[in-house]
Amino acid sequence: MEHSKDAVADRLTAEVVAKVAHAPSPRVRETLQALVRHLHAFVRDVQPTESEWAAAIDFLTRTGQICTDRRQEFILLSDTLGVSMLVDQINHGRGGATTETTVLGPFYVASPPDIPAGGDIAKGLPGEALFVEGVVSSEGGAPLADAVVDVWQSDDQGRYDLQFDDPSVFFLRGRLRTDDKGRFSFWSIMPQSYPIPTDGPVGALLASAGRHAYRPAHVHFRIAAPGHHDLVTHVFVRGDKYLDSDVVFGVKESLIADFERRDRTVPLAGAPIDRPHRYLRYDFAVARAAGDALAAG
Ligand SMILES: [Fe+2]
Repeated sequence: MEHSKDAVADRLTAEVVAKVAHAPSPRVRETLQALVRHLHAFVRDVQPTESEWAAAIDFLTRTGQICTDRRQEFILLSDTLGVSMLVDQINHGRGGATTETTVLGPFYVASPPDIPAGGDIAKGLPGEALFVEGVVSSEGGAPLADAVVDVWQSDDQGRYDLQFDDPSVFFLRGRLRTDDKGRFSFWSIMPQSYPIPTDGPVGALLASAGRHAYRPAHVHFRIAAPGHHDLVTHVFVRGDKYLDSDVVFGVKESLIADFERRDRTVPLAGAPIDRPHRYLRYDFAVARAAGDALAAG
């Protein structure tokens, strides 16, 4: 009889897979079976010592313990291991005429302050003035009125408000709505490239892999329109030195845009701008939700 260590381990894996084979939900069943198979394969591959496995559990414990309302270390872990972009690719990688997507990241706030058309999300913060405008359309071309456009970004030092421990610190984010021609516009300052937070377990993991922690400068967008799928993406600043090595693998070529230096802009709506500023025009196309053709009738 074969009683090698491998045979015993294989029987263990099969036994655990069988244990979850009767989960009432087929989706739960296939997910748990895949989890067991892949996790066991990982452990077989790595052959950890017991102290190494204890260190792994300690790492995950600390990753959870550092999370608060303003800090999400598990999203960072998912992002820096490329899992967030893998999930993005699986769910949105079908191509077509819609704007490409990228990670949500750990700094989204669900109900940012309302900003009027042409309003300023920088509210006096230092930095190079930036005017952003664009049009939100349905795939195929029709502009979408009253779409919700949430924007958020880093300050001129590459920091987000949520990285300040003081909960009253709140800046560089807002919620706009498109007008009857699908247009939106706002003032801000130039975002800067930034390191993701490195003072927790994920920072230590990056350091142990010899990786830098930087993201290229970008403005985040989350767009919601009735009858359409929510769009989560960023627009990256062309020329940024980290475009080719984003720590979260989030850059797609179609999301890199010129933030032009200008002295004068005639916006899509409103009065001409006659002072030095950076200018970003970026139009978004969002995907119709399945069944909308019927529902909209
Ligand atoms: Fe960001």
